[in-house]
Amino acid sequence: RGLVTISKLQEMRQAGEKIAVLTAYDASFTALMDQAGIDVILIGDSLGNVVQGESSTIPVTLEHMVYHTSCVAKGQESAFLIADMPFGSYSTPEQAMLNAAELMRAGAHMVKLEGGAWLAQTVKFLVERSVPVSAHLGLLPQSVHTIGGFKVQGKSTESAQMLINDAKALQEAGAQLLVLEAIPSELGKKVTDAIQIPTIGIGAGPDCSGQVLVMHDMLGAFPGRSPKFVKNFLSGQSSIEAAFKSYIQEVKTGKFPGPEHCFKST
Ligand code: KIV
Ligand code: NA
Repeated sequence: RGLVTISKLQEMRQAGEKIAVLTAYDASFTALMDQAGIDVILIGDSLGNVVQGESSTIPVTLEHMVYHTSCVAKGQESAFLIADMPFGSYSTPEQAMLNAAELMRAGAHMVKLEGGAWLAQTVKFLVERSVPVSAHLGLLPQSVHTIGGFKVQGKSTESAQMLINDAKALQEAGAQLLVLEAIPSELGKKVTDAIQIPTIGIGAGPDCSGQVLVMHDMLGAFPGRSPKFVKNFLSGQSSIEAAFKSYIQEVKTGKFPGPEHCFKST
């Protein structure tokens, strides 16, 4: 298959073809999920949790992200690669640009930042300098200590409206993708309808343009407690490749996420 590009993802959104995304951190799993037909691979700072054994993503450094991005890039054939910018690495537009350049040199095709309209200037600065950007709204794991835990976001009318405004501002600034984490399904749909760029949900309901899960979670390979939006795709399958194929198929057909993986407003 050919390279997955940002224009291909935009076309998929327009055509209503669901985008299947998984995280990966090394070359071997990347090759397996790429051959299974995954559209996008996210080198998530969730590696802090699933690779490093930390209880949050805050200890993850740019050096860690660059290392894992280069590992993933070695296994990539067709999938579009997004690398997370870690905690504290995008505090100013200039700092973000220098750090994003490192991730692009390591093989990323896009970088992802967590935050709302306050990041618009930084997004614009990066996009003007040819760094494609994915925004990330809803539950922001890098903000766990300002939130006071890992909690569902956008449940009140006011916070839901603020999230929609943030999504519009980030799209306006040039973001070409938007990850939505842990919000009511109804809000996932509203945000998706309010913007033109693809939305990728994790606990954001079935109406996003695509879905993402952390690889260890969907293989049942994370020893800790899993959030509600996680489904084990290895159970019932006889190989990891089959689990990846099953995930891709369930995302494409809309079977995943089911109501049991979703959050409600009230
Ligand atoms: O770090 C990560 O894996 C992520 C996804 C859960 C969206 O940001
Ligand atoms: Na992340």
